[in-house]
Amino acid sequence: MIIRPLHADDTSLELRFLKGLSQQAIYERTFSHRGKLKPGELGRLVRFDVRNQIALVATAAVEGQEEFLGVVRLARSPDGEFEFAIIVHDAWQRRGVATRLMKTMLAAARRAGIKRIGGVTLASNVAMQTLARRAGFAVSRDPEDATAFLLDIGL
Ligand SMILES: CC(C)(COP(=O)(O)OP(=O)(O)OC[C@H]1O[C@@H](n2cnc3c(N)ncnc32)[C@H](O)[C@@H]1OP(=O)(O)O)[C@@H](O)C(=O)NCCC(=O)NCCS
Repeated sequence: MIIRPLHADDTSLELRFLKGLSQQAIYERTFSHRGKLKPGELGRLVRFDVRNQIALVATAAVEGQEEFLGVVRLARSPDGEFEFAIIVHDAWQRRGVATRLMKTMLAAARRAGIKRIGGVTLASNVAMQTLARRAGFAVSRDPEDATAFLLDIGL
């Protein structure tokens, strides 16, 4: 497995990755059951302003072809805060892929001078809460939303 930045020419690998995800993983990542991409959405996933987003992929050669195992994104929201989101393909979960992606994302954020990272996860998503805690994030209930937990780390 290698971790590398997502490139603008990764469209077909990204599409194959998205198509292979389970409804459950999509829901936990996006908090929505919407399975289909909107027009232009795929392009925006691979071509983004690098001043506002860091996107890293974990990849491996599967039957001689590079395949995405997981993706972590760290994006600046309109209010200037940085928020991360992560997803690992169902078939590759529980093998340390997210742990490696989180570690690399935190190192990249430090290098970029980012001082604080936030995140949101479902209250039911114990896997993400455990992963975040292990990566050094504070994990707390969202006082404004009983279905959500907030993740926060100072760098
Ligand atoms: C959450 C998620 C990213 C974890 O990815 P992963 O690559 O499986 O995580 P790792 O293998 O690095 O696991 C790290 C630790 O997290 C915890 N963990 C991971 N999956 C778990 C699960 N299904 N149940 C309980 N704990 C879990 C474990 O403590 C694990 O360590 P261990 O395997 O030594 O016990 C993955 O399950 C996923 O993509 N889920 C769907 C999308 C999502 O929920 N994204 C988060 C929204 S921000």
